[in-house]
Amino acid sequence: GKQPVRIAVTGASGQIGYQLLFRIASGSMLGPDQPVILQCLELPQAMNALKGVSMELDDCAFPLLKGIVQTDDPNRAFAGADYALLVGARPRSKGMERGDLLKANAEIFSVQGKALDKNANKDTLRVLVVGNPANTNALIAARNAPSIDPKRFSAMTRLDHNRGLAQLAEKTGSSVTDIEKFCIWGNHSATQYPDINFGSINGKSLTSIINDDEWVKKNFIPTVQQRGAAIIAARGLSSAASAASAAIDHMRDWTYGTNGQWTSMAIYSEGEYGADKGLYFSYPVIVSPNGKYEIVKGLQLDQFSKERFEKTRAELVEEMTAIKELLP
Ligand code: NAI
Repeated sequence: GKQPVRIAVTGASGQIGYQLLFRIASGSMLGPDQPVILQCLELPQAMNALKGVSMELDDCAFPLLKGIVQTDDPNRAFAGADYALLVGARPRSKGMERGDLLKANAEIFSVQGKALDKNANKDTLRVLVVGNPANTNALIAARNAPSIDPKRFSAMTRLDHNRGLAQLAEKTGSSVTDIEKFCIWGNHSATQYPDINFGSINGKSLTSIINDDEWVKKNFIPTVQQRGAAIIAARGLSSAASAASAAIDHMRDWTYGTNGQWTSMAIYSEGEYGADKGLYFSYPVIVSPNGKYEIVKGLQLDQFSKERFEKTRAELVEEMTAIKELLP
């Protein structure tokens, strides 16, 4: 059989971590013939909770689970890591300014970037940042890992992508798998731009099927952008199971490919479509079966799309500027 891969998960005993670890260990992420070792990172005060999660993982008797590391030391968590899912982050506390939140996370992700640089398996590593502000946290981690290819870092917009697919499937009375060429541009935040202009179902354009520009602009786009807040309002807690599920989708597709289909990933920008080089920016991507992603090229954005693109680009530049002096 295959050798086990090492999967580091930070914030492992948090809400998302609690959903994520069991799905990874069951084979949902890397398939039924890929053994895994989970390397869990938590804060010192959460080590007891992590112990409980680890006991439950044992009690599932997952055939693929070959080991569990529980640690509060990033160097141990990332030792030999083939995958790193960076979920743990500093949440916004009452009265905290956005700039302070960015800086508190910049510290966490600087430490973790350095620890990845020193300890991870650089030839195989795939990093997914889930913890918010995810795009800028990915930038910070990557910049602190100078010996790792920045293309091995990504931030998660797959939840936004999946949320968009669900809304579109409902509106058109189709299945989520029928919808092609939908994407999220930019930041994982309320400025993100869910774009249906290239979308199709069975080769027929989504805009012509929906034929309701008012719905797209006044209903669809804000619904996807504000979905996180709507979940909190309904559930009293932020989205965790759906976030974990999107992380599973992101890593699976990045490993095994997307069968020629588009998905959305926030990845290192070389300046494609006018985003600033070095930002972690969500693009439409296709992943080949060997696990290499390519940004979809040559799309023509209309005036409305260009305005939306510019808004989310400007926000990412602003976030980067707020933490600039903390970058190496
Ligand atoms: P949570 O607060 O339940 O769990 C976070 C866990 O991370 C806690 O157990 C905490 O002890 C741990 N942690 C904090 N700092 C750490 C550090 N430096 N090292 C290791 N562990 C650390 O939060 P939840 O609901 O699991 O969300 C986690 C993050 O994911 C949040 O930042 C949230 O905003 C973000 N998120 C991102 C989404 C996306 O689509 N990109 C979707 C949903 C949530």
